[in-house]
Amino acid sequence: MRVAMIGTGYVGLVSGACFADFGHEVICVDKDKAKIDALERGVIPIYEPGLDALVAGNVRAGRLKFTTELKPAVAEADAVFIAVGTPSRRGDGHADLSYVHDAAREIAAAVKGFTVIITKSTVPVGTGDEVERIVAETRPDCDCAVVSNPEFLREGAAIRDFKHPDRIVVGTDNPRAREVMTELYRPLYLNRSPILFTDRRTAELIKYAANAFLATKITFINEIADLAEKVGADVQEIARGIGLDNRIGTKFLHAGPGYGGSCFPKDTLALLKTGQDHDTPLRIVESVVAVNDTRKRAMARKVSAALKGEVRGKTVAVLGLTFKPNTDDMREAPSIPLITALQDMGAKVRVYDPEGMEQAKAYISNVAFCNDAYDCAQGASALVIVTEWEQFRALDVARLKDTMERPVLVDLRNVYRAEEVARHGFAYECVGRPRKV
Ligand SMILES: NC(=O)c1ccc[n+]([C@@H]2O[C@H](COP(=O)([O-])OP(=O)(O)OC[C@H]3O[C@@H](n4cnc5c(N)ncnc54)[C@H](O)[C@@H]3O)[C@@H](O)[C@H]2O)c1
Repeated sequence: MRVAMIGTGYVGLVSGACFADFGHEVICVDKDKAKIDALERGVIPIYEPGLDALVAGNVRAGRLKFTTELKPAVAEADAVFIAVGTPSRRGDGHADLSYVHDAAREIAAAVKGFTVIITKSTVPVGTGDEVERIVAETRPDCDCAVVSNPEFLREGAAIRDFKHPDRIVVGTDNPRAREVMTELYRPLYLNRSPILFTDRRTAELIKYAANAFLATKITFINEIADLAEKVGADVQEIARGIGLDNRIGTKFLHAGPGYGGSCFPKDTLALLKTGQDHDTPLRIVESVVAVNDTRKRAMARKVSAALKGEVRGKTVAVLGLTFKPNTDDMREAPSIPLITALQDMGAKVRVYDPEGMEQAKAYISNVAFCNDAYDCAQGASALVIVTEWEQFRALDVARLKDTMERPVLVDLRNVYRAEEVARHGFAYECVGRPRKV
């Protein structure tokens, strides 16, 4: 199959490279010339484990190309994916569909022969109908089918997720489009990944329901963590105790500083807006959004408590800036409101992240960017672990103590054991576990 991927961001680049790896001929299109130039030089614009080798291998094999020219890429294609951004619209929180609509217009003007136009971007229910309307308006003679195929990959494990998905969701009633989609995903189908064919609106809503459910799971365990702290229980054992029940499952039950990232915050908000538009309030998701919003900044109070309220003028070291490990993505990262809150309390902030420092510069200011964890800890009165990168899981605690002003560890990801750090003379604060100082 000949595939054109419109939008070469996280999802477009990973999906494009994986489809090429399945043996399809893929051309990734982006308006961002610097991004395409970099890709043509073999430079990957994002940090995602394994992506550089996957891209390089498929470029070498002649199956993966990059361009800024949408028209010829689309004209040649059997399948055109829309993988552009759908950020929160400034002011009202609805998904901003302007990139999707613009892409649909450009694609419609360029298609030749029967073409399947597939929305991979996360879009509110009914967007497929609007894309179909735009296509018909732009090219009344166009022989196209508009399909929904939401993407469920996770940053940091994106290639594995794309190649071994729990399921593939395809929303279409068109038999010709169904054939094309089956062909595109044949290698996965052979691997027994289930393809769920639904109507288009159902497929669109599956994506939001999935993200809202996962965000709810995280927020639920975070609130249980708060209660566990008050009553002297251990949230990690509670998570295990409930997670081993197959009806609940162990995933997404790690208490922490609240969810962030490029998807959950904007998608939960967009789902609420869809609910409001259809006079169907989604009260559970409303609570999840509100609880999570306040949680991130509230984490600064944990730091303050660990410092017995004496934050002003003190140096706080923050380890991990990205919204999760193994990505350089800073979108909606919990570190951002935490750092701002610490600065509001009068703290001087030093930071370190293995991959996210460059991206972080656009989101945080008046902080010292450091070379590694130990450099970051220098002179600090508290060390805060915000993102659980592998290299922060086995820090030399004695070395940290030597370099810090005061031995205080605030572990927002529960990666250390209280007894272990206490043995080195550290005061220790974590999330939802009994505090042992
Ligand atoms: N990031 C994730 O983990 C993830 C997972 C599942 C779904 N999604 C969804 O996938 C979509 C894309 O997300 P992303 O994180 O890859 O976004 P991104 O911002 O990283 O990339 C989008 C790209 O599209 C390009 N673009 C915009 N309009 C264009 C046009 N008309 N022609 C060509 N290029 C154009 C932009 O320049 C940008 O490079 C979003 O709807 C998102 O919600 C993301």
